[in-house]
Amino acid sequence: MLLLIFFSSSIEAKTRYHKWEITYQLKSPDCFQKLAITINGSTPGPTIDAQQGDTVVVAVKNGLFTENIAIHWHGIRQLGTPWSDGTEGVTQCPIIPGETFIYSFVVDRPGTYIYHAHYGMQRSAGLYGLIRVALPQGEVEPFKYDSDQSLILNDWWHKSAFEQSVGLSSIPFAWVNEPDSILINGRGRFNCSLVQGGGTCNSTNPDCAPYVITAVPGRTYRLRIASITSLSAFNFQIEGHNMTVVEADGHFVKPFVVESLYIYSGETYSVLVKADQDPSRNYWAAVNVVSRQPKTPTGFAIFNYYPNHPKKNPPTVLPIGPHWNDTTGRLNQDMSVKAHPNYNHPPPKTADRLILLLNTQNKIGGHTRWAVNQVSFTLPHTPYLIALKDRLRNVFNQKPAPDTYDYKTYDIYQNTSNQNATYSNSIYRLKFNSTVDVVLQNANTMTSNNSETHPWHLHGHDFWVVGHGVGKFDPEKDPNGYNLVDPIEKNTVAVQPYGWTTIRFRADNPGAWAFHCHIESHFFMGMGVVFEEGVDKVGKLPKNIKGCGAS
Ligand code: C2O
Ligand code: CU
Repeated sequence: MLLLIFFSSSIEAKTRYHKWEITYQLKSPDCFQKLAITINGSTPGPTIDAQQGDTVVVAVKNGLFTENIAIHWHGIRQLGTPWSDGTEGVTQCPIIPGETFIYSFVVDRPGTYIYHAHYGMQRSAGLYGLIRVALPQGEVEPFKYDSDQSLILNDWWHKSAFEQSVGLSSIPFAWVNEPDSILINGRGRFNCSLVQGGGTCNSTNPDCAPYVITAVPGRTYRLRIASITSLSAFNFQIEGHNMTVVEADGHFVKPFVVESLYIYSGETYSVLVKADQDPSRNYWAAVNVVSRQPKTPTGFAIFNYYPNHPKKNPPTVLPIGPHWNDTTGRLNQDMSVKAHPNYNHPPPKTADRLILLLNTQNKIGGHTRWAVNQVSFTLPHTPYLIALKDRLRNVFNQKPAPDTYDYKTYDIYQNTSNQNATYSNSIYRLKFNSTVDVVLQNANTMTSNNSETHPWHLHGHDFWVVGHGVGKFDPEKDPNGYNLVDPIEKNTVAVQPYGWTTIRFRADNPGAWAFHCHIESHFFMGMGVVFEEGVDKVGKLPKNIKGCGAS
């Protein structure tokens, strides 16, 4: 009898409780000391480990003295718990200082995910970490490895997130500039001799010693690589070692081999690396900025062959990665990521609605902004989920956000000052259970011959990445080239310079969901939209998400 109880409980879903206190701490992740937002004293925060089907409960105490917070569980769909998505202004009111908010949600799929602050530009201040969801007992991935290691990549500024956000919203505009350093698992290396005008920088501080990945010769490692950058697109490589890509955003990938991996903010990948090179030395694991002209030194960790000394630097110079401006190389990787044949769920063959979103940089009343179909997004004071469910009127613009732009005449290569954009907090209301195609169209910024890379992230869903293209999307012709056979499902996808990307998803998760560029400053500057679907099917809203605006 006892044995039976033991046996049956071991296959049942568990509840994983976490108690977090969010505080500011003086940290030196790249040797330079600054205030960082930490979870239980550390940045990155603790990794959440769970098994598919488990319920994760996180009691978050806001221990900041004068600042609100909210934490988003990036890649977790929040089926049945749209109020636990953690998106301030969309799904909840912020958590005020001294208050404890309890997030509770089911991790319904195995894989690698992220969590991070979703309030103002707080993510850049260090509030982030990893979520790893294991397969149920007895199930195995469609690939083999000896052990599992995680790398969370970030870019880091010495300027505070406050100074950054004030600069972005000021006239004249002050850009955040390129990051001071690149962090791998919260460790980077700033050249302390460059510190001017005060500041504490100590290159022998153990907090900024490089991260070490130790490998036993002959073994195969699964590296879970996540990017939580505020701005940068990265290229990751391990000197002299190829990598086999096997997972993307929690979905198994038809394996393909790369020398180096491009990864954008909000994406996660698993790669397999075999320690099959000369074991008498260590190797660099290097992270280089791509998509923007790099001004940040290469980030590095040490890929250590046991039993060499883990801190022994490799005898070689740091790899500099592919050319930062190689858009074709990046697009090639985007198009190589396909669903694993045994885990392929092809999308519906047709879509019920097409939303064409033009991404532009604009000037509005002297402010530099980003806009989507000439609308620059602002968050309302009353979160959408509450406004929609409780039918609060006049708390956001009821006019539907535009489904298209003048794609016949708009020149995506033009450099104009785009004077005709407006601010709005209007949203897209999707028919419940309908299939939606969204085409993200990239264009020239306000600088001549410049178009940036934007990683777009959808809350509450995975989408199929059905197409990528160069130039202007043609609604008559380009859908013929869609991959409807084995497109990968993801929650974040890149839109390359002057290119377009089409995603397809089912509007089947009742709630209000943000869809935005994952570059922290771009979203802050208006690069996002909100989708609503089936809000009448949302269960009773918990009280603790309310208390701001009209709620
Ligand atoms: Cu990881 Cu709305 O973002
Ligand atoms: Cu962007």
